[in-house]
Amino acid sequence: MISQQRLSLASTPLSAIAGDVFDGLSRTPKSLPPKLLYDERGSALFEQITCLPEYYPTRTEAGIFMMYAEEICSRLGRDVSVAELGAGTATKTRILLRSLVQRQSAVNYCPLDVSATALQVAKREVERDLETVCVCPYVGDFEDLTFLELQSPPRVVLYIGSSIGNLERDEAVRLLKNIARHLDSGDQLLLGADLVKNTDVLNAAYNDSAGITAAFNKNLLVRINRELGGHFELDAFCHVSFWNEQASRMELHLESRYRQSVRVDSLDMTLRFDQGERIHTENSYKYTMERLESLLQCGGFEVENTWTDPHCWFAVSLGVIT
Ligand code: SAH
Ligand code: AVI
Repeated sequence: MISQQRLSLASTPLSAIAGDVFDGLSRTPKSLPPKLLYDERGSALFEQITCLPEYYPTRTEAGIFMMYAEEICSRLGRDVSVAELGAGTATKTRILLRSLVQRQSAVNYCPLDVSATALQVAKREVERDLETVCVCPYVGDFEDLTFLELQSPPRVVLYIGSSIGNLERDEAVRLLKNIARHLDSGDQLLLGADLVKNTDVLNAAYNDSAGITAAFNKNLLVRINRELGGHFELDAFCHVSFWNEQASRMELHLESRYRQSVRVDSLDMTLRFDQGERIHTENSYKYTMERLESLLQCGGFEVENTWTDPHCWFAVSLGVIT
């Protein structure tokens, strides 16, 4: 597990990546945890994804924030401190913070992320934009949420950007319960989730014509090559993404173009791939309003309000600890 620390230039310890990669690539079928997508290059590629014409989630959620920021902030109450899970560069969060500083003289904002480079951008941009926001970033994993207890109440936790969709339902419920366990009665959670929609829209969003999502996915192999002495040939794998209707999720895989062996020196591992064999790298679950509400309730939150866009493509729900 990655130990939690205030923002420093220290990168993720080798052993954490090594353990996850060894476990995932020893399984049948092979898989890798999506959090490994976000090293410095992965975070930069994700930023590019958010600006792609096909990738609707970021601009749709940003549209909801622009439309309803005042209403959302008025429901947060007075003098809240703000924490955020998987904040990345906090670009969209600035829309909410800008509205919040109209209502209270100062805001303490604590973003948590595995990506130190994304958090550096977040701190620089938020503090440049909003003088009265004090940013205190934490590099770490969602598994350790003790930083929430350092926040002064009343607290609001942001978990936006549809990141909940990258978790299995049981993992999502466990994470929400864990958030709730670190909060007090009356504290709130603002959750952004992507909704089920037309299959063509979904497939295009994860198979963009510029190939940025493919580069983001393949960056996992680049990272294993660099950090673990892997010998993956990037052209020997292709990005595969499709809608799995039954599971209500987009799936991302890396597919071996032919039968091959790949050595990973630091793990003392020789991986064998058949032609067409895949490494499952990410799921992106899409919710219905009913499933979203049920998820929040199972996680220990009562839904106060939900905001959506005119197409009902994305939902932002405010939950309070029950
Ligand atoms: N919230 C931002 C970024 C979403 S990308 C937005 O809406 O645009 C997902 C972010 O979650 C990345 O910055 C990634 O580094 C972070 N992340 C993924 N898995 C994580 C984990 N297990 N613990 C902490 N951060 C994680
Ligand atoms: C961060 N997460 C919500 C993104 C998503 O849409 O599931 C990650 C992503 N994967 C490919 N494109 C974007």
